[in-house]
Amino acid sequence: MAEALLEIRDLKIEATSYPPGERPRDVVLVDGVSLTLQKGRVLGLIGESGAGKSTIGLSAMAYGRGGVRLTGGTIRLRGDEIRTASPAGLRAIRGQRVTYVAQSAAAAFNPAKKLMEQVIETTLMHGLASRAEAEARAVALFGKLGLPNPETFGQRFPHQVSGGQLQRAMTAMALCPKPDLVIFDEPTTALDVTTQIDVLAAIKEAIRDTGVGALYITHDLAVVAQVSDDIMVLRHGKMVEYGSVDQIINAPREAYTRALISVRQMEHPEKPAEAPVVLSVGQVTARYRGTHFDVLKNV
Ligand SMILES: Nc1ncnc2c1ncn2[C@@H]1O[C@H](COP(=O)(O)OP(=O)(O)O)[C@@H](O)[C@H]1O
Ligand SMILES: [Mg+2]
Repeated sequence: MAEALLEIRDLKIEATSYPPGERPRDVVLVDGVSLTLQKGRVLGLIGESGAGKSTIGLSAMAYGRGGVRLTGGTIRLRGDEIRTASPAGLRAIRGQRVTYVAQSAAAAFNPAKKLMEQVIETTLMHGLASRAEAEARAVALFGKLGLPNPETFGQRFPHQVSGGQLQRAMTAMALCPKPDLVIFDEPTTALDVTTQIDVLAAIKEAIRDTGVGALYITHDLAVVAQVSDDIMVLRHGKMVEYGSVDQIINAPREAYTRALISVRQMEHPEKPAEAPVVLSVGQVTARYRGTHFDVLKNV
């Protein structure tokens, strides 16, 4: 088989400083996680908040947030070990070979600069294209991502576009350098539900069209099932289950995965629009048999 785009083996990530009062067992944030991503494929990382999804996603660019250190394992990008790469080596990877789409585009854009300047900035900084070529790439990406008037969209400031449009613009920014790998970290979570569906569809198409490899992080199993080829379920910094979308959704092996799926089905029942209320439920708690977490708590 061809060399994997991303190959993580036995990754260990530890907190070097943590808020007062946190228990020592929380020091190890990611423990023994391994994954393989082939070129042009999408791996979904799913798990509840605090499971370690962002920490693992950022490790694909050998980055640890303040107070977090990548202490063990190997992270290979097309065969190159990056966990122990030099600062110069990392500069050549981040923003060029690997890019990142965060949950809050609003926080990621400079409000004082036009979108086009920001979308092409890293492409120019790394010398990957001329200004004219980078702008042409950006316009093509705006079109692909379903943004209105792609030719002139980049002349707007961030406050002149909607949240969904800004998230699409951030996706264009991530794709503009033609990276090998994009990390999408809950890119639709902050959007309202109908916008989420449209933006997800646009991102999915852009991933397929450009053939980029992607890690797609979300807490929402339905989202991850739509966009991914494979899924890894995470909990407390450890892998719970890892397989194809079909296997994870239709034949989950682990109780925790089944619980995630049943919660999703309860949150999004298939019902006709404007159905009359026939049952109203309050303060219900449900627990998955034999385990120690609540499937529902005071819903
Ligand atoms: N900078 C940090 N220092 C110490 N602990 C952190 C830091 N960032 C995150 N953590 C801890 O790491 C764990 C995983 O966090 P994170 O990867 O952000 O989870 P997720 O993205 O799945 O919600 C959490 O327990 C969180 O409290
Ligand atoms: Mg996160």
